[in-house]
Amino acid sequence: MSVQVIAIDGPAGSGKSSVARALAAALGWSFLDTGAMYRAVTVEALHTGIDVHDVSAMGELARSVKLTTLPRVSVNGRDVEDEIRTETVNEAVSIVAANALVRHQMVRRQREFADEQPLGTVVEGRDITTVVFPNATLKVFLTASLVERSRRRGEEGEASVARRDVADSTRLASPLRQAPDALVLDTTGRKVDDAVEEIMQWLKNQTLS
Ligand code: DC
Repeated sequence: MSVQVIAIDGPAGSGKSSVARALAAALGWSFLDTGAMYRAVTVEALHTGIDVHDVSAMGELARSVKLTTLPRVSVNGRDVEDEIRTETVNEAVSIVAANALVRHQMVRRQREFADEQPLGTVVEGRDITTVVFPNATLKVFLTASLVERSRRRGEEGEASVARRDVADSTRLASPLRQAPDALVLDTTGRKVDDAVEEIMQWLKNQTLS
């Protein structure tokens, strides 16, 4: 593939956002938080009164909506950076992420984004190593204990994180799975910089081999 991508998957609270963001900064690459995209579409549905269970209406929304994730998450020009992390959105986003029509549009947008970046992109989510960029330069699967992941998610709580784990990994459309060729990094008790250093080393080895 011509574009450089580091693909990072893992469950909620495994450190994907912090690690991917810091890694992108260290490399001077772009960063894409794909969970924020699913969340932004969910926010727009709730805002405009579209039923998140309506598969085709949600698919059409995902196709037509104007989405940006940087410098802040916005949808149709409206800043939703704070709104995407609310409990209401935590509840509804799993339904939206299980919709194959929505996923199709998100995957298209994610590939387009990476194509447009001058150097490379660090992309994080649930299906990045398996579906979106199966030929990525480097594939990483982050894990951490449920206790630590729930602590990182703050108010969301262990029960909600566990519920999303089940929803994300058992759905029919692109469930969260560890790609056979992904390198696994357990971030339990590890600092972000430490995880970034390890991935940078993997990248170096990959490029040399
Ligand atoms: O990473 P996050 O918690 O912000 O993700 C929000 C939801 O979106 C989560 O329930 C899983 C889903 N998601 C997904 O299905 N595929 C992705 N590539 C990213 C997120």
